Amino acid sequence: MAEGFFIHQFELGSWQNFIYLVGDKRTRTCAVVDPAWNYEVILEEAARLDVRITDLLCTHSHFDHVNEVEAMLAHTDARVHMLGAEIDFAGFSCESLVRHAPGDRVTLGDVAITMMHTPGHTPGSTCYHVHGVLVTGDTMFVNGCGRCDFVGGDPEVMYRTLHGLTDTMPGSTVMYPGHNYGPTPTSRLDAQFEANPYLKLPTLADFVAHRMAGKTPGTVIPPPAWPPPEGRPRRASA
Ligand SMILES: [Fe+2]
Repeated sequence: MAEGFFIHQFELGSWQNFIYLVGDKRTRTCAVVDPAWNYEVILEEAARLDVRITDLLCTHSHFDHVNEVEAMLAHTDARVHMLGAEIDFAGFSCESLVRHAPGDRVTLGDVAITMMHTPGHTPGSTCYHVHGVLVTGDTMFVNGCGRCDFVGGDPEVMYRTLHGLTDTMPGSTVMYPGHNYGPTPTSRLDAQFEANPYLKLPTLADFVAHRMAGKTPGTVIPPPAWPPPEGRPRRASA
């Protein structure tokens, strides 16, 4: 990991989501990857680290990754970043939204973060690559991968995406997933080559059969009322 760059991981919400602050030590600026579940905790974490939030990076449009975008915009003057393919898929809109193409970079001080188009979970899913770190959203988890049965999901596309990553990224790359579903919060890609069952299925047909077993293509995720009347969850709940 290059000097000057930092990544801070914390878990929030009812679905074991990981939220990230990614930034530049010199300018003490950062981006929030997937601002969701509790904007107050996100702001508290940034204050604790003494960094200023300038950007919100969305891996995709599912509510458990973006449900605090509006609240964050009310408390910061951040720009919001999403690939055009995901904006079009979801009809996503908000203030200060920047529409991106694959390969675009978001710069924070000396740190440049590259947007990689990794469809399969949703059409415009995005991994953020910076200094040997890959923030994967719901594309890849530790020993898992994102579901492909939700609206916009496609297991054949996911298979190509996962193999595109493993064929091109160095094994030393550290994967930071969108959910805390694995035995460890992060994993090197070379460890995933050995341990992730979704990377070990030999053919596309095997992958599709395993990923879609028991699932119904086109499943709609019912978003909850937001914000919840009982208050925002501060940490993961069982
Ligand atoms: Fe998702």
